Amino acid sequence: MNSEKLLVVDNVTKVFTKGQGFVKSKIEAVSRVSFALERNRPEIFTLAGESGSGKSTVAKLILGFEIPTTGSIVYKGNPVGGLKGKREFIKDVQPIFQNPFETFNPLKKVQSYFHDTERNFSKFSPGKYPLTERALELVGLTASEIKDKYPSEMSGGQLQRASIARALITNPSLLIADEPVSMIDASLRMSVVNLFKRLKDEQKVSIIYITHDLATAYYISDRIAIMLRGQFVEVGAVKKVLDEPLHPYSQLLKASVPAPDPETRWSEDITLSDLETREYTRKGCKFAGRCPKAFDLCREQEPEHHAVDDRLVKCHLYA
Ligand SMILES: Nc1ncnc2c1ncn2[C@@H]1O[C@H](COP(=O)(O)OP(=O)(O)O)[C@@H](O)[C@H]1O
Ligand SMILES: [Mg+2]
Repeated sequence: MNSEKLLVVDNVTKVFTKGQGFVKSKIEAVSRVSFALERNRPEIFTLAGESGSGKSTVAKLILGFEIPTTGSIVYKGNPVGGLKGKREFIKDVQPIFQNPFETFNPLKKVQSYFHDTERNFSKFSPGKYPLTERALELVGLTASEIKDKYPSEMSGGQLQRASIARALITNPSLLIADEPVSMIDASLRMSVVNLFKRLKDEQKVSIIYITHDLATAYYISDRIAIMLRGQFVEVGAVKKVLDEPLHPYSQLLKASVPAPDPETRWSEDITLSDLETREYTRKGCKFAGRCPKAFDLCREQEPEHHAVDDRLVKCHLYA
């Protein structure tokens, strides 16, 4: 039955222990998250939320870089735990990271990544790289644009295109792109996200797009999940969720569309800010401390997901 599905994330929780000595705390960086992607209906599924909401942890769980504490992740009918490192899975599910300059070794020519990948995954005929050429073409680059170039000789936008092209060599079914444009000049961002849209439409690739930028999410995604402290607080069609957000946190996020600030890197560090710790460890709704609509129950009891207007909203207001 599951093989109808490309990916099934079922009730997944990931617990991390943070801090040292007496100030250790356990947090659910991902808390009972469920969603599925259909095999024959490619889509762009966005995970959006502030820094520290568990987005990257979801990505790592799907890629098999982290193991769920509870719950299961099944890809094309097979549990991901059993697939980790397997050749087919690595071919089929490709990550794209935030910083293309970290994806490529500064001392290696960019083309060598393509050629190595192609040699690993296809019958190699010396001196010919048809899969590389095709992949570059898909992202709007030519072989001569990367020929003999080191990463530092390319722009961030070009290099991110190159990293997407490299992910495409193996003809994957699923791309997991974790903040792929947040380090790219604003002027180039749109061209990269447009590329995702084209890959979905023309190459039938499904994409899990992780971002804190609701504008690009609105433009390219089919569905969106708004994450807060490990939880999906609202999930549905992107137009519905962003045009008329129902969860007070989605409303806040939309109102405060954090202007992408090129000076601030979205921190990947694993020290919890006070707010983060408080929200991760509080009982009741994680948002109750900041929510303008909170009432007593919100501080006491975690809300369930309620189905409202074609989406799921984890909020007592909709009980
Ligand atoms: N390996 C780890 N060990 C302990 N805590 C972690 C680890 N990875 C992430 N975390 C914590 O989990 C929470 C969610 O992190 P993350 O998934 O990176 O969020 P996001 O990608 O939305 O910024 C954060 O509080 C982060 O500090
Ligand atoms: Mg992250």
